[in-house]
Amino acid sequence: MLRVSRLCAAHGAVQAARDVDLEVAAGTLVALIGSNGAGKTTTLNSIAGLHKPASGTVTVAGRDITGWACHRVVRSGVALVAEGRRVAPPLTVVENLELSAYSGRSSKAELREQLERVFDLFPRLAERRDQYAASMSGGEQQMLAVGRALMTKPDVLLLDEPSMGLAPSIVDVLFQTITTLHEAGATILLVEQNAELALAVSDHVYVMQRGQIVSEGTPDLVRGRSEVMSALFG
Ligand SMILES: Nc1ncnc2c1ncn2[C@@H]1O[C@H](COP(=O)(O)OP(=O)(O)OP(=O)(O)O)[C@@H](O)[C@H]1O
Ligand SMILES: [Mg+2]
Repeated sequence: MLRVSRLCAAHGAVQAARDVDLEVAAGTLVALIGSNGAGKTTTLNSIAGLHKPASGTVTVAGRDITGWACHRVVRSGVALVAEGRRVAPPLTVVENLELSAYSGRSSKAELREQLERVFDLFPRLAERRDQYAASMSGGEQQMLAVGRALMTKPDVLLLDEPSMGLAPSIVDVLFQTITTLHEAGATILLVEQNAELALAVSDHVYVMQRGQIVSEGTPDLVRGRSEVMSALFG
């Protein structure tokens, strides 16, 4: 469904992603793990159109979207929950969700349906529907950021470190929701620094180090490779 091949991306002199190949089959949850500065965010941002790759291709359901601007990528069915909880602080929960839906492909009727779906997934957001995003906790803002992505009815959901900086109890809630989405057939590429968490929920794992994919396989296989685990956990 989502295929990245030989992707290269640089930040000035830093070649942050080199010859990255990865595939996310429809209905699977794939994790991309690796230590600080490995190039995970660069890879996701290159898929989502926030960063222009130097070379390589990104295809979704066979369609080449390489180098497309992010608004076109969203309309092609790929939604990114960027690193660091992007919400619009001066808007309420409902306003944040509705605004996001307009950048997607939803009609008015679908918008209501999607809104209900997001509220079913995150009852906490439903309780706070008229609250300003600015006054919500970090965990609630992360739920809202995921909700905003879902409002665009994505075929592929890209999540960049959803657990970052959150209390363990909130991380549990978020990951239960990610599992629920996965069980409902969503296609997800999850970037996580917390390797244990990623290995616990994914079907397939890619390990990135210094801009390259250094290992891949099922979570059990990756867990069994001591050289990979020591690179990740020190
Ligand atoms: N805007 C930028 N300008 C210059 N260098 C950058 C920029 N963004 C990232 N880099 C560099 O590119 C490399 C890869 O960064 P990237 O953010 O993709 O890693 P990451 O795996 O997401 O790390 P983290 O786990 O810390 O989020 C790093 O060396 C980083 O310093
Ligand atoms: Mg990152």
